[in-house]
Amino acid sequence: MFVNDCLNVNENGHLTIGGCDTVELANEYGTPVYVMDEDTIRTACSSYVQSIAKYYNGNGLAMFASKALCCKELCRIVNDEKMGLDVVSGGEIYTAMKADFPPEKIHFHGNNKTAEEINMALDYNIGKIVVDNLYELELLNQLAKAKNKVVKISMRIKPGVDAHTHDFIRTGQIDSKFGFALETGEAMEAVKKTFQYNNVELTELHCHIGSQIFDIDPFVTAADIMMDFIGSIKAQTGHLITELNLGGGFGIRYSAADKPTAYDDYMNAVSKAVIAKSAQYNIPVPFIFIEPGRSIVGEAGITLYKVGGVKDIPNIRTYVSIDGGMCDNIRYALYKSTYTIVNASHADKAPDTKVTIAGKCCESGDLIQENAPIATPRVNDIIAVLSTGAYNYSMSSNYNRITKAPIIMIKDKTPRVIVKRQSYDDLIQNDI
Ligand SMILES: Cc1ncc(COP(=O)(O)O)c(C=O)c1O
Repeated sequence: MFVNDCLNVNENGHLTIGGCDTVELANEYGTPVYVMDEDTIRTACSSYVQSIAKYYNGNGLAMFASKALCCKELCRIVNDEKMGLDVVSGGEIYTAMKADFPPEKIHFHGNNKTAEEINMALDYNIGKIVVDNLYELELLNQLAKAKNKVVKISMRIKPGVDAHTHDFIRTGQIDSKFGFALETGEAMEAVKKTFQYNNVELTELHCHIGSQIFDIDPFVTAADIMMDFIGSIKAQTGHLITELNLGGGFGIRYSAADKPTAYDDYMNAVSKAVIAKSAQYNIPVPFIFIEPGRSIVGEAGITLYKVGGVKDIPNIRTYVSIDGGMCDNIRYALYKSTYTIVNASHADKAPDTKVTIAGKCCESGDLIQENAPIATPRVNDIIAVLSTGAYNYSMSSNYNRITKAPIIMIKDKTPRVIVKRQSYDDLIQNDI
């Protein structure tokens, strides 16, 4: 009935998640509230882990891209599921460390890591630093030298693959702030440069071609290009790259129109390309990393809001105002992202109208969705926005000094708070 497998409708006509009544959850925990289904997260984790076992003989590691959702409990769950972690800031490193995440299973990404963050990663013995530019390479070597360490590095490459995704989230092109371009020779120069430094050791290459991708072909093409580059590095320098990181980007269902590829099919096709290229260049099949973010947590989460004013502007549109907005979900304002909206109080009723869901922030662009089909919402109805598990809480802000919503995790039909609602005191705690 819904795109998300963890959702259903109960005898009261209310939407349920993981078997819990969303209207009751809204009453108990208040709104807005993020609610997540733990089994959905764990199933996604284990699909990736099993695919690596199946297609690479276990010679690889699936890493959760924690930018999609970073909090201590998520770190614990993905660790329990035998995944690694991709982090992009000191804050994400700190969260992982406080959740006792094994540092050797962490990759540190980012296009402008500060000296402070690099030192933090070195002190925690983070497994790998993914170098983004020459300035960073030199800085990292200097900082590692000062600590008398040799640090394992990966290098972010732009393979130049167009994954037919939204421009704002396309990162594999030459014109991207991330990584070294292949076409210009910049990437090969950077690889050679690493050999001049004594405190870094290049073992891995990395690429990430975009997000919310449904086709397998761009992933296969990117893998081919990366393997060709590994072949060229060996031919030109004699150096063997033994690890290949193919990033994340696997699409999820935001609406019924979205048809994601099964992870297994992706792994099957890409592994064939990697294995064939390894034979072509007469090198061992590299250890494979992948970095799914959205596809681990996206469909597991929903956001519940309470309807306030309904403003009907005849012949134009109906605004349905909710008690959250761009402060808890900025993706429509940022990318015009599609979401499925459900009247959780009347989830048994078919949509009979189309509305604009408006947030409460002081911005006309603070919308969650326009032209959304829904069963007519009335004041105090609970509205659910589906597939909000990724890049919602992690992108949330305190704009207009609105407090951040809590995250409730459901397991065995039992809800538990994994992130508390911010209080007004939390808001002013750093004000002098
Ligand atoms: C380097 C890297 N890896 C992984 C991801 C996760 O992508 P997704 O959430 O689309 O799987 C991103 C997303 O921006 C990324 O930049």
